[in-house]
Amino acid sequence: MRKHIDNLKANIIKKGVFNMAKITASVFTSHVPAIGAALDMGKSHEPYWQPLFKGYEFSKQWMKDNQPDVIFLVYNDHATAFSLEMIPTFAIGCAAQFMPADEGWGPRPVPKVYGHPELASHIAHSVIQQDFDLTIVNKMDVDHGLTVPLSLMCGQVSEWPCPVIPFAVNVVQYPIPSGNRCFNLGRAIGKAINSFDQPLNVQIWGTGGMSHQLQGPRAGLINKEFDARFLDLLINDPKSAAAIDHMEYVREAGSEGIELVMWLIARGAMSDVEGGGAAELVHRFYHVPASNTAVGHAILKNN
Ligand code: DHB
Ligand code: FE
Repeated sequence: MRKHIDNLKANIIKKGVFNMAKITASVFTSHVPAIGAALDMGKSHEPYWQPLFKGYEFSKQWMKDNQPDVIFLVYNDHATAFSLEMIPTFAIGCAAQFMPADEGWGPRPVPKVYGHPELASHIAHSVIQQDFDLTIVNKMDVDHGLTVPLSLMCGQVSEWPCPVIPFAVNVVQYPIPSGNRCFNLGRAIGKAINSFDQPLNVQIWGTGGMSHQLQGPRAGLINKEFDARFLDLLINDPKSAAAIDHMEYVREAGSEGIELVMWLIARGAMSDVEGGGAAELVHRFYHVPASNTAVGHAILKNN
């Protein structure tokens, strides 16, 4: 009887009578403020930047061909919206809109980011009920951590292609969350999105990284071998990627390379982690350097 009901449910979902939100893909990309400045100041064709932007040509076309209804965008704030006065480990943006932040040179000339309060509130409820504490944010400006990935994937547009739910992770001020916690949080977010009863095509993005260090005696550190291994594990063996511990990130990928834990949130939301079909690699790209950072990028289709 139980099996029969499950089959019935599966058929109803297949026929589209009972439509739920669905994660269709995950996107992974570094952010660097200088990438935003290069685009905004018309420098993307300069020899320094050309090889970087070339790696995103495929992705911009793929975005047009695979338009999501909503992007759930995991990123980190760089002491822009949050200061030392308030340090949420995980913060979900539930507002209807988010303004590009002024990071010292004025806000980037990019479109306002529209949110999806209904889906964001559902995710907050579901994830908190799954025992992860989130900070609900109803007013927040968004910095390069969020706007640079959008620019890389969508290009220079007059409006972003769809609403975006900003999900800010503290990787700036210690203590910061482990990769394993981020991965498990991603699993909870995946369950939350898949249980929203509107037929939305949702992409989940993990941003920041790859190896880089901006301060101290090791400033300028880049580790291509670590980055390649991380990308391999992220794609093919995410549970092993999730087991990389804090000290290994700092030692191998540098103090800012720790931003990579955010990629594990997006990866944890993919169906294969829960026994679904294998995630399919659509695109992989790596370039060194952009400013002080190794830039990594991947797109995975959810099956
Ligand atoms: C750079 C990289 C970052 O991740 C960041 O937040 C700021 C600057 C850089 O490489 O310049
Ligand atoms: Fe950063």
